[in-house]
Amino acid sequence: MDASAAAEADARHGVPRHVAVIMDGNGRWALSRGLPRTEGHRAGVAALRRIVSHSAKRGVECLTIFSFSSENWNRPAAEVGFLMTLLERFVRRDLAEIHRQNVRVTMIGEREGLEPRILGLIEEGEALTRDNTGMTLVVAFNYGARNEIARAARKLAEEVASGALAPDDVNEASLGARLDTAALPDPDLVIRTSGEQRLSNFLLWQVAYAEFYFSELHWPDFDEAALDAAFASFAARDRRFGALSAKVAR
Ligand code: IPE
Ligand code: IPE
Ligand code: MG
Repeated sequence: MDASAAAEADARHGVPRHVAVIMDGNGRWALSRGLPRTEGHRAGVAALRRIVSHSAKRGVECLTIFSFSSENWNRPAAEVGFLMTLLERFVRRDLAEIHRQNVRVTMIGEREGLEPRILGLIEEGEALTRDNTGMTLVVAFNYGARNEIARAARKLAEEVASGALAPDDVNEASLGARLDTAALPDPDLVIRTSGEQRLSNFLLWQVAYAEFYFSELHWPDFDEAALDAAFASFAARDRRFGALSAKVAR
């Protein structure tokens, strides 16, 4: 998106067009209450329901949520298993309501090697909501930005090797068009909860000019008011994209 389109998006009530959220702190939320980490993940799903509805209500066009990273497989098998069960329950219980809200669901991340049952659920969600015209909910699942960029580079290499693409045609646009996010605008705002200030391999390419917002709240405590506070902070930012501020440029 170019600077003027972004400025236009900001002018729409200061609500970012694309919000990307690193939903962090489920485990710490639970531990601080003397509960097992799994309870934190369960509470995290409840927070997700609220944030999806509220984002759609505020006019967000695209909400990307980091739900499981390519590195999260390194957690204990029991926790990974629980997270997979939660995903399954989310699709079974929440998909109909999400569909009712006219939300379109799509996944980014590595599909190859995923258990067929899990991939089937995700594809079921995508198929059911494909024609919805409201907010797009992008689920980053088995997602790692370096993996995504490497897969895009491999596609380009295959096309060059087969003669379909000239080496000169390898550029920002052609690489971007082979990322999982090819059809999406770049995020305007990245939110990370639970006080950590890092990307943890999330959307490295796409956040080149995103604004960042870090909340001390653990994800299960992140509610509608917290999201509105993030939007208010975003609305006050001066996005220059390397050029001059809109005020100065006139
Ligand atoms: C985020 O919460 C959920 C996932 C990464 C799946 P965490 O499970 O990372 O919670 P903390 O960071 O350990 O508190
Ligand atoms: C990032 O959180 C991944 C998700 C929110 C799904 P992590 O909790 O896995 O990140 P690190 O390990 O603290 O960097
Ligand atoms: Mg964490």
